[in-house]
Amino acid sequence: MPTELLSFPDDFVWGAATSAYQIEGAWNEGGKGESIWDRFCHTPGNIADGSSGDVACDHYHRWREDIALMRELGLRAYRFSISWPRALPKGYGKANQAGLDFYDRLVDGLLEAGIEPFPTLYHWDLPQRLQDEGGWFERATAEAFVEYAGVAGRCLGDRVRHWVTHNEPWATAMMGHQVGLHAPGVKDYPTALAVSHHVLLSHGWAVPELRRESPGAEVGIALSLVPLVPGSSDTARYPAYRKFDGYFNRWFLDPLYGRGYPADLVDDHVEAWRLPADGLAFIEPGDLDAIAVPTDFLGVNYYFPVLMRSEDIPGSESEPMMLLMPEDGFEYTDMHTMVYPDGLRQLLNRLHYEYHPGKMYITENAASHSDDPGTDGRVPDERRLSYLREHLAAAHRALENGVPLAGYFAWSLMDNFEWSFGYTQRFGIVWTDYDTQRRILKDSALWYRRVIAENRVRIEN
Ligand code: FCB
Repeated sequence: MPTELLSFPDDFVWGAATSAYQIEGAWNEGGKGESIWDRFCHTPGNIADGSSGDVACDHYHRWREDIALMRELGLRAYRFSISWPRALPKGYGKANQAGLDFYDRLVDGLLEAGIEPFPTLYHWDLPQRLQDEGGWFERATAEAFVEYAGVAGRCLGDRVRHWVTHNEPWATAMMGHQVGLHAPGVKDYPTALAVSHHVLLSHGWAVPELRRESPGAEVGIALSLVPLVPGSSDTARYPAYRKFDGYFNRWFLDPLYGRGYPADLVDDHVEAWRLPADGLAFIEPGDLDAIAVPTDFLGVNYYFPVLMRSEDIPGSESEPMMLLMPEDGFEYTDMHTMVYPDGLRQLLNRLHYEYHPGKMYITENAASHSDDPGTDGRVPDERRLSYLREHLAAAHRALENGVPLAGYFAWSLMDNFEWSFGYTQRFGIVWTDYDTQRRILKDSALWYRRVIAENRVRIEN
């Protein structure tokens, strides 16, 4: 079989990603405040296996070993998130020095290991106190976020060169406030819209704050974005495509890139949800300028496309819905999401030609497959390995098309707490034994180590 070698640019950033609630544990240690995910998990019925992130991967206590693991993999960068209630237990006011010290040591440890830290300020664990005061529905939460960005910036800004403000505002807004499968478990679309606006606004306000406290650092945001793919029996009409694209992608991209909220969606929202004519009154003068603040990069989280078969879904003409339907001829992950590597190329090309971000990082990409260690102790996760390889090949094709792609972060460094799925889904390139906290490099991790060392991907044709 001929082997094709896909070389990446010399300065390409190879990384892996995690988030605080999914790995840290120590939910009530070291002065940390309660987060909405603590509350959500401690409320029976919300998590598939009844579990929580109380202990998770115990990274709060094992961060040194975890950095050693990253070093073993040769990672050039590590994307993690800061737990807001660990830094500021109430969300504002008095900072928690012990919590800040944890991230201070983590960043020093990473730099000593030659690994670039990419902290994300918000990966969904809002301080419960702020939720009690209305959460992201309230503009005051965006103001508190700026205070938090300042605290994080003053603590780490002298060493951190890359900041991500928010992880997946779509998920914060829609999973948390429309669908209700994520904390805080609200199910109300108009609320979700206000939340999306306040999250974007908080991003816009936090960027200058981070620039002040961390001069010269790159600042960006990570969005969950989906290419729309016609199903084989597709008769989906153009308006349906536009609606879904608006719901997942344009509602976030357009304001961030200075175009304001898409007019077609504003009209739809007002009509479909019978909002008063001033239904989007949470948008105040000056907000759109704030949201459109120039950033240094766009973070792209890509997992799967959305398959369009809207004719099958009653009511889908008026209400956006998530379609994850099995379709013959495609591979599916354990989470029933479609494996569609070329979607990544399509998405990156589209972002490049339509929104022109100066730089992009793939801030998350991965598949859930629950392969366990065999008797020889190895974890042969061939499907994950092939997923990563094919997606990197797609990213390479985008690079060849001229897309300014600067790096790739595999989700996740290790198996961890997968939100409402609890521990039923394994996304890591490193296997986590939750009883002993032993970590084992899966075959995909060993493969990724070689990719990083050689700065290229081998494809057997
Ligand atoms: C993304 C999240 C991340 C993880 C992966 C599987 O949407 O950002 O925390 O849960 O999905």
